[in-house]
Amino acid sequence: MKSLKLILALAIFCFLDINAKNIPIQKSSLVGKKIVEFIPTGFDQSKTPSLILQKEPVSIGSAPKSWSLIPEFTVKENKASATLKIAGDISLYGGGEVTGPLLRNGQHIKLWNTDTGAYSVEQGKRLYQSHPWVMGVRKDGSAFGIIFDTSWKSELYTNSTEIVLNTEGALFRVFIIDRESPQAVLKGLSELTGTIKMPPRWALGYHQCRFSYDSETRVRQIADTFRIKKIPCDVVWMDIDYMEGYRVFTFNKDRFSNPKALNDYLHQKGFKSVYMIDPGVKVDPNYGVYQSGSAKNIWVRKANGDEYHGKVWPGDCTFPDFTQPEARKWWSGLYKDFLAKGIDGVWNDMNEPAINDSELPESQRLGTMPYDTPHKGGGTLPAGPHLLYHNAFGRLMVQASSEGIMAANPDKRPFLLTRANLLGGQRYAATWTGDNYAGWDHLKLSIPMSITLGLSGQPFNGPDIGGFLGNTEPDLWGNWLGFGVFFPFVRGHACAGTNNKEPWAYGEAMENTSRIALERRYRLLPYIYTLFHESSQSGLPVMNPVFFADPKDLKLRNEQEAFLLGENLLVIPAFSKNPALPSGIWEELSLVNGDLSDKYQAKLKIKGGSIIPAGKIIQSTTENSFAPLTLLVCLDNQGKAEGQLYTDAGDGWEFKQGGYSLMHFTAKRNGNVVNIRLADKKGARNVEKDIKGVNIELIYKGKTYKTSGTINGNMQIELKN
Ligand code: GLC
Repeated sequence: MKSLKLILALAIFCFLDINAKNIPIQKSSLVGKKIVEFIPTGFDQSKTPSLILQKEPVSIGSAPKSWSLIPEFTVKENKASATLKIAGDISLYGGGEVTGPLLRNGQHIKLWNTDTGAYSVEQGKRLYQSHPWVMGVRKDGSAFGIIFDTSWKSELYTNSTEIVLNTEGALFRVFIIDRESPQAVLKGLSELTGTIKMPPRWALGYHQCRFSYDSETRVRQIADTFRIKKIPCDVVWMDIDYMEGYRVFTFNKDRFSNPKALNDYLHQKGFKSVYMIDPGVKVDPNYGVYQSGSAKNIWVRKANGDEYHGKVWPGDCTFPDFTQPEARKWWSGLYKDFLAKGIDGVWNDMNEPAINDSELPESQRLGTMPYDTPHKGGGTLPAGPHLLYHNAFGRLMVQASSEGIMAANPDKRPFLLTRANLLGGQRYAATWTGDNYAGWDHLKLSIPMSITLGLSGQPFNGPDIGGFLGNTEPDLWGNWLGFGVFFPFVRGHACAGTNNKEPWAYGEAMENTSRIALERRYRLLPYIYTLFHESSQSGLPVMNPVFFADPKDLKLRNEQEAFLLGENLLVIPAFSKNPALPSGIWEELSLVNGDLSDKYQAKLKIKGGSIIPAGKIIQSTTENSFAPLTLLVCLDNQGKAEGQLYTDAGDGWEFKQGGYSLMHFTAKRNGNVVNIRLADKKGARNVEKDIKGVNIELIYKGKTYKTSGTINGNMQIELKN
């Protein structure tokens, strides 16, 4: 019986082999420091355009002869695949938005952007975004990454002996980066695909959302309550119910009759507002957006020339064909009047695109446009079927949105959140991990999901804290927020019909827990802002896996409960009982009164050798964090420490013309005395005027030593052994 199975397996294998055509590599060349581009013979850019790369890379030499990572290409029945054989003990990461473990060895995902609410590990094989990208970390801590440069519908296999991308489309290019560390590989990824734009400072504060705060009165109440209860918050979000019958770019005449006045009110109280915009435009001849899009002829059309219609929130909708430059331009133009109402940020949702086809028999449901729906293309993009452009639909939409937001408010930094995206799409929008639910499994899953997005080029991300679907129990909220405040993007959100999920909704004790958690976030904003600045320059994640502390330490490779914020702060969630932690000096940190005794708060540890800049507790980023600035200091074995603080105006582009300040602090122990000073400063911004004194908190062998001084003075602390 066994041998029969073997014969059968061999027969299938041979059959596959006979049918698959091996494609030689026509060209491999060096396109960056230790980055090789592989182009298979027969590759045709008009069949597989690149939507992933920031720009076409210029070849700077031939690939080194010694290069050992060489992909193999095959085509079978017009479907192209690439395989990278790997040998040795390699830890695999990446794949973008995925469920399941951080360590991706032995995983399989489908790259076909899909609205997958309440994803289980099985369903989560197919989520809202596509990242055909895998990073491998060798035993010695060196690493490589592979980009499969295609948006065709695909499946990605990350096996310990080979990484395979099977597509349903034409041949594509592959880029391989091979460098000394995982961090260096991620820098390489951003050299090809770009980095995030520096976000406005307010976007790093706490965001409060609900589907939906459905009237101006309710929004004002929410904002007022934060201020009355002194719970820090920067942003209130408007979900679909602010619209008139879910028509995008409109406001409900009764419940949101004066959005300008509402936004002014929020601004006065130190809040910003973010409003949702979906891609589906209601088919309604009396609706201005439908009329103007129709006049421009930019809708997706079926092969017979009829407008493609699909159901979303407003009923029958048309969809801009974002592959057309004219469609993107038209869409961009819609933001000017909209944002003029005092709107600060935009949320693009349902842009897989998600379509409700539940009226069809189950076997015919696609949840999106039919695969052969044509897209016209234009500019550098060829005409092609939905099968090619589906995974790029959200990415092209957010390109248009982001361009529109910047054109409307050229002096401000855009803030855009998207649900669907493609590898490289971080250069247009931040993201969140879609419709999770209020359960312990999703609380735990949110950590590897967020880390993996960061390891796939998207540092600016986070989950719906507390869980979107289902009712949230107080205990779950406290546990989730206790570490969730250290995600790069921190938003509480709730689905229609679920319980209230604001920080005060769970009783007084939990309100206090929430306040402590958010105060910890706000105290760390100077550090987090510095990390975002670094990320916008280098592409490095903000939230890192613990193994980044020591890529050679194999026991850290699959740690997915504890994580690092930047490289100097370890976050250990309250639920995590036995995480694998990096060796060396890591001292426990208290940031806020009562945080060490509150059982819901994550444990924080500062790395020996580092100085972390912190601010005072503020209620929103409209207040000055630096009254005073606190430097949290932890010495290494040599009695030294250093750290950086980046500041700028918090919005706008002045920093690009030198209007920033990058301060470098050092600490050095001499006998029992530690000297702390500002060792170097770059940039023209006079931040000293904002810094109302400096507090030093040095944590040494479990004890905290304190002193204070001025930014340009030398500060001393005496240690008592
Ligand atoms: C989608 C989004 C969710 C939003 C809802 C209503 O389910 O993922 O965040 O609240 O639509 O707009």
